[in-house]
Amino acid sequence: MAGKVALRQSMIVVDHPLLRVHLTRLRDRNTPADQFRLHLTAIARLMAYPVLEFLETVPVSVVTPMAPAVGAELAQVPILVPVLRAGLGLVEGFRDVIPGAIVSHLGLYRDHHTLKPVRYYTNFPSAYRDHPFLLLDPMLATGGSAVDALDYLKDEGARHIRLISVIAAPEGVDRVGASHPDVPIFTAAVDERLNESGYILPGLGDAGDRQFGTL
Ligand code: PRP
Ligand code: URA
Repeated sequence: MAGKVALRQSMIVVDHPLLRVHLTRLRDRNTPADQFRLHLTAIARLMAYPVLEFLETVPVSVVTPMAPAVGAELAQVPILVPVLRAGLGLVEGFRDVIPGAIVSHLGLYRDHHTLKPVRYYTNFPSAYRDHPFLLLDPMLATGGSAVDALDYLKDEGARHIRLISVIAAPEGVDRVGASHPDVPIFTAAVDERLNESGYILPGLGDAGDRQFGTL
């Protein structure tokens, strides 16, 4: 299970030796797309444990081959919200460990010139608005996409939201913290800064392109 180090009130940097190893492979420009996807899935699995510690369970009865036993099931199944495209790479790792997880896709891209988010697809699961939401996007750069995604989820009625990134820039952390101080941010790394084009340094480049081979 990955450990965690709280840096600011709303941000938790998750740390584990394997997380550091997989993150290094993600950063390496020589890592091909199919391997990139596998490393990102491994990171999601490792981050899932501290991210999901808050989940509540209710007792259930099962019968083993030997005798009745009391076990647990989730009181409320979490809703995974991957931000297209790059957030898709975090879905499999979280789904692997959450029985019955629901996936609600959110299409956003960052305009290359303005760096502002453009929302192009939504699919909110209204029947589950009281459930915990996990917003999945590996890159938190300017924070514009995350703030827009959080605005959208709250407008739809979501109240319990955690933001899961893999690499965050200080600028993005501050922007999300200012707009949505109630939303905890989990990340595996906080990098130095953004460059003049809004890319994270050292970062890993464009997470969507690297994952899907569209470089
Ligand atoms: C990336 C990333 C975030 C966004 C972060 O998506 O996955 O959604 O940029 O940048 P921000 O914090 O400055 O808003 P991108 O727009 O490249 O779309 P893609 O995943 O489809 O490539
Ligand atoms: N989006 C990415 O994919 N990478 C960055 O460095 C910034 C935004």
